[in-house]
Amino acid sequence: MVYAMYFSATGTTKKVVELIAEVLGEGLNCTSETIDFTLPIVREQKRSLEKDDIVVFGTPVYAGRVPNVLLKYIKGIEGNGAKAIPIVLYGNRNYDDALIELRNLLEEDGFRTIAAGAFVGEHSFSYTLAQGRPDEQDLKIAKDFGKSIVNMLKDNSEHSPVSVNGQTPIRGYYQPRDRKGNSIDIRKVKPKTTDSCISCKLCAEVCPMGAISFEDVRVYQNICIKCGACIKKCPTQAKYFDDPGFLYHKEELEVGLGNKRAVVETFL
Ligand SMILES: Cc1cc2nc3c(=O)[nH]c(=O)nc-3n(C[C@H](O)[C@H](O)[C@H](O)COP(=O)(O)O)c2cc1C
Repeated sequence: MVYAMYFSATGTTKKVVELIAEVLGEGLNCTSETIDFTLPIVREQKRSLEKDDIVVFGTPVYAGRVPNVLLKYIKGIEGNGAKAIPIVLYGNRNYDDALIELRNLLEEDGFRTIAAGAFVGEHSFSYTLAQGRPDEQDLKIAKDFGKSIVNMLKDNSEHSPVSVNGQTPIRGYYQPRDRKGNSIDIRKVKPKTTDSCISCKLCAEVCPMGAISFEDVRVYQNICIKCGACIKKCPTQAKYFDDPGFLYHKEELEVGLGNKRAVVETFL
């Protein structure tokens, strides 16, 4: 069985992981299944894979690392010798040590990591940074990458763990800084809600932290990870950030990295 397994608040990780899993399923002639663990209720279920399974496993890059809110869930998965392909999606800045961290986590779970990739997705904070990515060019790379994995598996030439870019020991979380070089702390920042809100509750349904109250969607009852789900999925664009530190960081990224096309990197 081939699994597409991912966390994807704004859908970019989902696109790449599902495509690679589809190519593997077709190429290896086996059925594929999706495990989308974006919602907290799915992360409550224990997962155990089998030796013959192949899992394309994706997370976005948050602060140069695997999102820390996912660590408990990922550490609880039982790989049982299944093959895994760690994939990270980053928003045009850098993936720093996220891929090596994800590879290590999956190896510690008992997976054998045979290939890996760092892809690029529209930044969660922005509509302009890496806008529309993964685009056609990225998806072509994902498809070709999937085909190369199929060939590698048919040749029986895989080696595990896969070598990826990143540092050991793994560096700390990327820290945004203001004009004076002081670190910007956005951990407690939450979106605000305008009067265009029609209380459709979609934001509460899609929040990966289950933080938004169904009774009053203006209320955030749990931590907000700034994933962008409630903002980008709102049908009336009623959610926004007004925290000066957050807005400064977002603008700094858009201005500094807006003209760059960050590269996709694959490892076999
Ligand atoms: C809290 C947070 C931190 C982020 N940190 C980084 C980063 O360090 N480097 C980067 O290039 N993109 C960063 N991003 C952008 C995401 O990695 C990127 O938008 C990704 O495609 C989102 O995946 P999704 O659409 O599956 O949710 C960050 C996003 C969030 C929400």
